[in-house]
Amino acid sequence: MSLSSEFVVVANRLPVDRVPGTGTGEGASWRRSPGGLVSAIAPVMRRREGTWVGWHGAPDEVLMPFETDGMKLVPVPQSSEDVELYYEGFSNATLWPLYHDVVAPPVYSREMWDAYVRVNERFAKAAARVASQGAIVWVQDYQLQLVPAMLRRLRPDLRIGFFLHIPFPPLELFWQMPWRRQILEGLLGADLVGFQLPGAASNFVRLCRRLLDARYNKQDVFWDDRVVRARAFPISVDVGELNDLIARPSVRERAEEIRTDLGDTTILLGVDRLDYTKGITQRLEAFGELFGDGHLKPGEAVLVQIATPSRERVEQYQLLRDQIEQQVGRINGEYGEIGFPVVHYMHTSYTRDELAALYLAADVMVVTPLRDGMNLVAKEYVACRADLRGTLVLSEFAGAAAELKRAYQVNPYDIDGLKDTLLMALNAEPAEQARRMRAMRKRVIEHDVDRWARDFLSSLEEPNSPSGPPLQ
Ligand code: ADP
Ligand code: G6P
Repeated sequence: MSLSSEFVVVANRLPVDRVPGTGTGEGASWRRSPGGLVSAIAPVMRRREGTWVGWHGAPDEVLMPFETDGMKLVPVPQSSEDVELYYEGFSNATLWPLYHDVVAPPVYSREMWDAYVRVNERFAKAAARVASQGAIVWVQDYQLQLVPAMLRRLRPDLRIGFFLHIPFPPLELFWQMPWRRQILEGLLGADLVGFQLPGAASNFVRLCRRLLDARYNKQDVFWDDRVVRARAFPISVDVGELNDLIARPSVRERAEEIRTDLGDTTILLGVDRLDYTKGITQRLEAFGELFGDGHLKPGEAVLVQIATPSRERVEQYQLLRDQIEQQVGRINGEYGEIGFPVVHYMHTSYTRDELAALYLAADVMVVTPLRDGMNLVAKEYVACRADLRGTLVLSEFAGAAAELKRAYQVNPYDIDGLKDTLLMALNAEPAEQARRMRAMRKRVIEHDVDRWARDFLSSLEEPNSPSGPPLQ
């Protein structure tokens, strides 16, 4: 297999990771790795026959490049120490909470920062080895913000794009970061820096001006004799894949089976990684109170909450899991009856078929993050509801709220508001459901993940001529 490629994606994660306990070598089993980044980039990669440079999810294991599902994968190893300090540490205990409005306190540790620099170097070198002359290299997400500048130093011939899948914080928050200058300089190694929303691109340009004294014009930053463009590209879902899934008789039968198993009841559904940004506890609190207040009775409605295990060794995630499991136990103990639990909670990852069946079975999709770059689950639900049935309750703090204006939008911090909105969504007439769903579907179908990737990559391929002379 020739690894040299004209199109290279660099992300912390490969699209598959090893199923723990299935051994190494030929006998090992692989599964799709979690999260929105992989859901979005995998279909694009399959179509472009590129090379994906990333980690395969197991510590202390060096693997040779391999091929899966039409994608060439180049594993980048991480030692146990790297996993602890770079992945669980600086990426997920520092950057993740800081960039999500400090909904949990970020940890600032010099040891973690050193690991972040070291592992970013390793990714940059791996990408430099596989990119052919003049190749396009697309670096993904907050774990690899130093890679663009490192890669440019190694390979000035490359065209480098960067996309941040999570929010980019306002100046007042980013200012906390002890290594704020290094991170901005790392990102400025790219030709194009993409964000989910225009506000995030503006935050970035404003920071470059204030912190680096960089000259700028609108969303162009003049840096190192180059122009770096900052732009918004709201990410989306693979509508074609979801259409295929919902057309399968097995998926439709499974949706019916789920409805039958749950009894003649209204089904609310939550699908998230088990993450404190997702507002799962607020959702449970509001739903539980609807029973306490007498607005709902056991058997009338049920919440199915699927929570994929995520970052399980990070303390905040362990605390959250305990909190959610206690809450579910309390709500079922207090309001459930024999044969009628109020919440069905599953701490597991599902196949795409099973997820599609759940989307088809759900009457109300509940997406209540406290902050989210985009939230693909909301868009997946809309893409699956070709029958124009079902309602979407969506947090104002999800990036998707900017596009899905006809969702039942809600502030998840406002528990009374959340309860009222859940009731409205539960009681929506079919004609109202269809009106809202039609409008949301139009947006998602016209702006699917292919269009997102095309927009980003064609913008990256354009020469970087500035929109005007520097203003400062
Ligand atoms: P994040 O990227 O923060 O995890 P998103 O909502 O943007 O959040 O993306 C989550 C992706 O992971 C979606 O494509 C969703 O279908 C998938 N996913 C979420 N929960 C599960 C689960 N329990 N099993 C399988 N896939 C899941
Ligand atoms: C979000 C992030 C991704 C990350 C995913 C899963 O989607 O934006 O970069 O890969 O969550 O998280 P994990 O830590 O398991 O890779």
